[in-house]
Amino acid sequence: MTTDVRVSFGDSLRSASDCLLIGVFDGEEDMNELLQACNRSLNNGLEVIIKAGELSGNTSNFTLLHTFGGVTPDRLLFCGLGDKELISRSLLRDIFSSALRRARGACSGSVSIAANSFVGPQITENDVVECAAESSQTGLYRYERFKSVPSTKNIKLLDLVVSGSATEKTMNDAMSRGISVGNSVNIARDLANAPPNFMTPTELSNAASGVARETGAHIEIIEREEMAKLGMGALIGVSQGSTEPPKFIVLRYEGDQNNPDNSIALLGKGITFDSGGLDLKSASGMRTMKGDMAGGAAVIGAMKAISDIRPTLNVVGIVPATENMPGGGAQRPGDVVSTMDGTTLEIDNTDAEGRLVLADAVCYARSLGITKIVDVATLTGAVRAALGQQCIGAFGNDSSFTEKVIAAGSEVGERIWELPTYDEYANQYDSDIADIKNTGGAAAGAIIGAMIIGRFAGDASWVHLDIAATSLTNVTKGDRVKGATGSGVRTLISLCELLSS
Ligand code: BES
Ligand code: ZN
Ligand code: ZN
Repeated sequence: MTTDVRVSFGDSLRSASDCLLIGVFDGEEDMNELLQACNRSLNNGLEVIIKAGELSGNTSNFTLLHTFGGVTPDRLLFCGLGDKELISRSLLRDIFSSALRRARGACSGSVSIAANSFVGPQITENDVVECAAESSQTGLYRYERFKSVPSTKNIKLLDLVVSGSATEKTMNDAMSRGISVGNSVNIARDLANAPPNFMTPTELSNAASGVARETGAHIEIIEREEMAKLGMGALIGVSQGSTEPPKFIVLRYEGDQNNPDNSIALLGKGITFDSGGLDLKSASGMRTMKGDMAGGAAVIGAMKAISDIRPTLNVVGIVPATENMPGGGAQRPGDVVSTMDGTTLEIDNTDAEGRLVLADAVCYARSLGITKIVDVATLTGAVRAALGQQCIGAFGNDSSFTEKVIAAGSEVGERIWELPTYDEYANQYDSDIADIKNTGGAAAGAIIGAMIIGRFAGDASWVHLDIAATSLTNVTKGDRVKGATGSGVRTLISLCELLSS
C-alpha cells in the first residue's frame, strides 16, 4: 500500500483530512499563531490541555485530539519539535515518520500537514515538503509480501498544505525528490528484508533489471562462465559451495556521456546468504545473514533515485552476487584463488567472503578505467564492536575523497566515522604461500577487511563503507522501521549529487 502525496495551498485548518499534523516548538506552545486559531475554534479547549502540561514542544512529544467539528480535520496531531534553533532535516524526517505512524495507528486514512508550522531558522518550507514526502515512504514502510492478511490501517493520501509564498513548481519538485529518495531507501529495504530462499543472486539480478527497465539505465549480468574468462577467481571461489548460480550485476546510469573521466563506481556486497561456508557460522550468527546483500541492495536502490535526479556524472553500480554456502564443492580454508588482476589470495577463513567478492568487483571497476570507487558492505562484525550501531564505518585511500563521502552522508542524516588504514596493518594479512590471505587475526578486524579490498584499488580514489552494524534495526524509531534500514542509500545518492558537475 503506497501513500499518494500532493501539495496544496491554503488554510490547513480547512483541509478535509482525517488528521492534521501541526508542529510546535519548545516555548511556543501559547504564542504560535496556528495554535491560537485552533484554540479559538475549539472553544479555548487547547488552552486547558496546554495548561495541564499535556501538549508541549518537547521533541517527539505527540498529542492527538479529536476535534468534533471544531475545525475541518477530524483530528489534530501536535508534534513537539524541540528547540527552534536546532530543528534539522534529519530530526524532521524522524518526527514526520513517527507522527505519520501515530496517525495511521489512530485510523487516519488521509493526513494533512501544516507545513509552515515546521519551518525554523535552518529549515525552509521547501525542506519541510521534501522531508515529509520522504518520510511518507520510509516512515510508513512495512514489509508484508509474505503476510496472508495485509494491514488494514493505511494512509492513502497525504496533503502537504503550504503557505501562499511558495511556487507550485518548487514545492512539487521538492515533493518528487523526497518521494524518489524515500522510494530508493524502500527498494533497498525490500531486497534486504526478503527471505533468502526468494532473494537468490538470480532474484537480485532480476530486481536490478527491474530498476534498469524503470529508469532506462543500462544493465549487464555477467554469468559464471564469463566471470571465469575475466579471471574473477575470488568471486567464483565463494560461489562454489552453493547450488545457486552467482551473478555479477552491472548497472549504468550515463549522466555525462561525452566525459568518461567524470565517472564513479558504486559497489555493493551481494551475499544473498552468508552461512560462513565451511567455516560455518553459529546459529545465532547466521540468523540475520539474509541481509548480507544489504550493500548490494543499497547500490541498486540508489541507482533508482540517481536516474530520477539525473546528476551530471556517469554512475556504474556493481553488485557481485552469490551465496556463501558449505556445499560439497565449497572452497576450503587453505585454498588459493586468484582475482581478476592476478593477485593470489589464500583462503584463511571462508567466512571472510565479502572482501573476496568485492576484490573482483574493484578490479572490474578499474578495468573500466574508473578512478572513483565507493563500496558498501556488511563486511565485519568488528565494525559493530568498534562503533556500535550509531554510525557507518568509513575507510579510504584518499582523504579528500573520504571527506566528500562523509560530507555527503552528513547532508542526508547518515553518520559516517572514519577509521585509519595505516600501511603497518598490512602485514597482518601476509600469506606464507600466496600474495595475501583473506584475514588478519583478531585485532582491528574492520580495518583489515577494508584494507584487503583497498589493496585492489591501486591509484583509484576508494572509500569503503562498512554497514554491518547499521543495515539492520531491532526497533521502529523515527525514520527507521524494524528490519532492514536501507543504510547507505541516501549517502550514495547525495554523493552523486555532490560530484555532479
Ligand atoms: N557478513 C559477515 C559480517 C557481519 C557480521 C555482518 C555480523 C553483519 C552482522 C562477514 O562475511 C563475516 O562473516 N565476517 C567475519 C570476518 C572474520 C572471519 C575475519 C566476521 O566479522 O566475523
Ligand atoms: Zn562471512
Ligand atoms: Zn558476509
